[in-house]
Amino acid sequence: MGLTIGIVGATGAVGRKMIEVIMERNLPVSNLRLFASEKSSGKIIRLDKYNKEITVELLTEDVMKEKYDYLLFAAGGSISEKFAPIARDAGNMVIDNSSHFRMVRNIPLVIPEVNSHVLRDIEE
Ligand SMILES: NC(=O)c1ccc[n+]([C@@H]2O[C@H](COP(=O)([O-])OP(=O)(O)OC[C@H]3O[C@@H](n4cnc5c(N)ncnc54)[C@H](OP(=O)(O)O)[C@@H]3O)[C@@H](O)[C@H]2O)c1
Repeated sequence: MGLTIGIVGATGAVGRKMIEVIMERNLPVSNLRLFASEKSSGKIIRLDKYNKEITVELLTEDVMKEKYDYLLFAAGGSISEKFAPIARDAGNMVIDNSSHFRMVRNIPLVIPEVNSHVLRDIEE
């Protein structure tokens, strides 16, 4: 069984790059869920490598309460502020790309090239 990964802001510059890197690295993903605003929900994202199409879903509080192995946020600080705690409280591992939680105590600031070792210390 592969990973379930969600990308919030999947249609933006960073979100699209995240999809690209997940494809490039051949991560064992069995369920990739893509979220955006009303503007892009319903759009189809083609993953040529897997000959697959994924429909962009509307970001809601309810979808954040579902179970993911990792939820990646790339939709801006105000979206992270509102939705990341909901996802975290539902037991999900959240990785936020905005600066919103950058200086918050007990939320590790991770720069992979510098301190990726802190990820090993995070309890699930
Ligand atoms: N660009 C960079 O080089 C860079 C580098 C490091 C960090 N960041 C950070 O990464 C984040 C995203 O940046 P970006 O440049 O990728 O922005 P962007 O291209 O403007 O993309 C924003 C994404 O957020 C989604 N979004 C906006 N409002 C939303 C809402 N109300 N509900 C759900 N989704 C919503 C957009 O979906 P729609 O398609 O529906 O509008 C889109 O997918 C920001 O926090 C930025 O500071 C950016």
